Amino acid sequence: MSRCSRNLAVATALVAMAAGSTSAFAADEPANVVKYRQTFMKGNSAHLGMIAAIMKGEVSLTGEIAPNAAALAEMGEMLSANLQQLFPGGTAMGGDIGVETHALPAIWEKWGDFEQVAMRFQEETAKLAEVAEGGDMAAIGQQLGVVGKEGCGACHETFREKD
Ligand code: HEC
Repeated sequence: MSRCSRNLAVATALVAMAAGSTSAFAADEPANVVKYRQTFMKGNSAHLGMIAAIMKGEVSLTGEIAPNAAALAEMGEMLSANLQQLFPGGTAMGGDIGVETHALPAIWEKWGDFEQVAMRFQEETAKLAEVAEGGDMAAIGQQLGVVGKEGCGACHETFREKD
């Protein structure tokens, strides 16, 4: 197969997958949703971890603080926008969905609170992206602390099983 027609074949397959996924939307397998949201959370952790490493001076990539903060703000937006789809009913820990999850039943018992903490995370990561653009290291450090405590920490405290 020539390179060009191979690319065409890949593109066609991707389009077919995309078309299929719209109809599959409502039927996302619980196990896949759980794995996806855990991967999503690892993404949160990766961006936060990279910013922290730079702030601590472990690496001198200061130019990567702002893009990582912007990415984290995007994660915040995605989390709020897709909260229901990432945490559908029936995916609490202790269920029978075939994968390990640490999502506490409190998520569904106190859904309003869960939404609020997700919204707070979105707001604080947006602020972090803003301060990161400014480049004031002290302000970035402070806002990073707020994101960790009022965002990740606050949510995990109530809604994720402790390690
Ligand atoms: C709105 C609530 C909420 C916010 C905000 C949140 N998390 Fe989570 N996080 C969870 C829940 C619930 C789980 C458990 C998911 C599961 O096991 O199905 C989790 C799981 C994780 C995991 C484990 C993933 C795995 O592989 O099992 C990591 C790491 C993580 N979060 C990091 C973060 C970091 C870092 C932040 C902030 C930058 C953050 N989270 C923000 C609710 C949240």
